[in-house]
Amino acid sequence: MLYVNGAVFLSVLLFVIGLCVGLSVPTNFFQTKGSDALDSAPLIDGHNDLAYNLYELLNNNLDEFNFTKNLTDDKLWGTKVCDSCYTDLPRLRKGKLGAQFWAAYVDCSSQYKDAVQLTLRQIDVIKRLVAKYPDDLEFVTEAKNIEEAWKNKKIGSMIGVEGGHSIDSSLAVLRLYYELGVRYMTLTHMCNTPWADSSLVNDSSVHNLTEFGQAVVYEMNRLGMLVDLSHVSHNVMRHVLLITKAPVMFSHSSAFTVCRNYRNVPDDVLHMVKKNNGVVMVNFYSNYVNCNSSRKATIQDVVDHINYIRNFIGADYVGIGADFDGVESMPEGLEDVSKYTDLFDRLYESEVEPRWTKEELEKVAGRNLIRVFRAAEEVRDQLAKTEQPRQDIINARDIYQAEVMSNVQPGSCYTAKEWAPLKLNNNSQQ
Ligand SMILES: *[C@@H]1O[C@H](CO)[C@@H](O)[C@H](O)[C@H]1NC(C)=O
Ligand SMILES: *[C@@H]1O[C@H](CO)[C@@H](O)[C@H](O)[C@H]1NC(C)=O
Ligand SMILES: *[C@@H]1O[C@H](CO)[C@@H](O)[C@H](O)[C@H]1NC(C)=O
Ligand SMILES: *[C@@H]1O[C@H](CO)[C@@H](O)[C@H](O)[C@H]1NC(C)=O
Ligand SMILES: *[C@@H]1O[C@H](CO)[C@@H](O)[C@H](O)[C@H]1NC(C)=O
Ligand SMILES: *[C@@H]1O[C@H](CO)[C@@H](O)[C@H](O)[C@H]1NC(C)=O
Ligand SMILES: [Zn+2]
Repeated sequence: MLYVNGAVFLSVLLFVIGLCVGLSVPTNFFQTKGSDALDSAPLIDGHNDLAYNLYELLNNNLDEFNFTKNLTDDKLWGTKVCDSCYTDLPRLRKGKLGAQFWAAYVDCSSQYKDAVQLTLRQIDVIKRLVAKYPDDLEFVTEAKNIEEAWKNKKIGSMIGVEGGHSIDSSLAVLRLYYELGVRYMTLTHMCNTPWADSSLVNDSSVHNLTEFGQAVVYEMNRLGMLVDLSHVSHNVMRHVLLITKAPVMFSHSSAFTVCRNYRNVPDDVLHMVKKNNGVVMVNFYSNYVNCNSSRKATIQDVVDHINYIRNFIGADYVGIGADFDGVESMPEGLEDVSKYTDLFDRLYESEVEPRWTKEELEKVAGRNLIRVFRAAEEVRDQLAKTEQPRQDIINARDIYQAEVMSNVQPGSCYTAKEWAPLKLNNNSQQ
């Protein structure tokens, strides 16, 4: 007690002395650090690929994985041996993570093949991971449960399917993913689907968003599954934002004007996101935040992206979607999941006008995502009164053409009767 009083006395004394000798006392001298916002609001990260590493390194065998261990120097998961490994519970706790969308990601090479089975395996391993660590993780499927889990000191754990190839052009599969607890789907990964273009097309287009692609968006709106526009082409971003009935998210994308990579969000789309009341969760990947190849990416680059979006459309539309475990290079200062706190400290210290407020930092940390998630649920509840599950079936011709472009022999992996024409006439279906 005496000790505390002594400390208080000393700081007041120093403050008074500072005033007397005319030293400028920083305005935030008695205020909080930026990372204190992570004690008053949950930090929600939009994208982590740990589950893919579990598949790559352990074939999803959780017996060989110790999540409660600091894995920094591990002989399989350590920084020296694995260039996309950044995640374990001790470091997540240090970084004050409140909730995470774990990505159920499967490689584009599985498209038109076993994408659905592999996706199910990834959903399964995420659920098993959450069940195995009940002291630290809690499975969450409703927006309101994020804050509840966080108050109980659990990292709310949601599932996002990364890539529309995972539904194999079937709304039935999409619906069942929702039943399994999937709460967002990224419309593409680094490959076009037969119904939506990925960022790889740059400003050009192959399909854009087709009629079936629009049906996918509407069905996601009806289900209450968040539409994730990271990875899609800029044209698809624009088209979806014109038609969606619910706010959208970018689970892990940064600002195109700051770093001209097509994975990032261009200014006109940022305006549309504001109008849509959605959220752009900023990606930390070195190559997406820094486009200058003559220097290395740093934490300041990520601060710059967040500040850019905040100053351009407002703090209500920014979030965090680091992409840990999905990429092989993170900026200096954001080396692993223990560093989120440094990012928030630095944001708060940014020399931007107007200065960041604690309330804004709480929004960026997680309140914006919760707002978007809630809004999607409200749309779901509203549509439930009038809409039935959609029964759209993709045109066999669209699948045919997409398979040809992907060098897959049309129809070779399908027996579904609506796609039978694939096998019949290769030439008449150009
Ligand atoms: C996992 O790691 C923790 C912390 O290092 C340790 O206490 C625990 O015994 C380990 N569990 C297993 C099953 O090896
Ligand atoms: C994890 O281990 C690394 C290397 O030993 C150490 O630098 C770091 O502080 C540890 N982190 C935590 C959260 O324990
Ligand atoms: C898209 O842009 C990248 C980088 O400029 C380039 O390497 C790639 O070939 C372009 N792709 C297309 C389809 O134009
Ligand atoms: C895709 O959309 C853009 C923008 O509306 C348009 O210019 C382009 O022609 C479309 N491409 C295709 C293949 O429909
Ligand atoms: C790229 O980085 C180098 C090294 O820091 C710097 O000299 C140069 O001005 C930067 N280029 C641009 C376009 O920012
Ligand atoms: C369809 O095309 C594939 C390869 O492109 C070929 O092997 C197959 O014989 C063709 N089928 C018909 C019915 O022409
Ligand atoms: Zn990704």
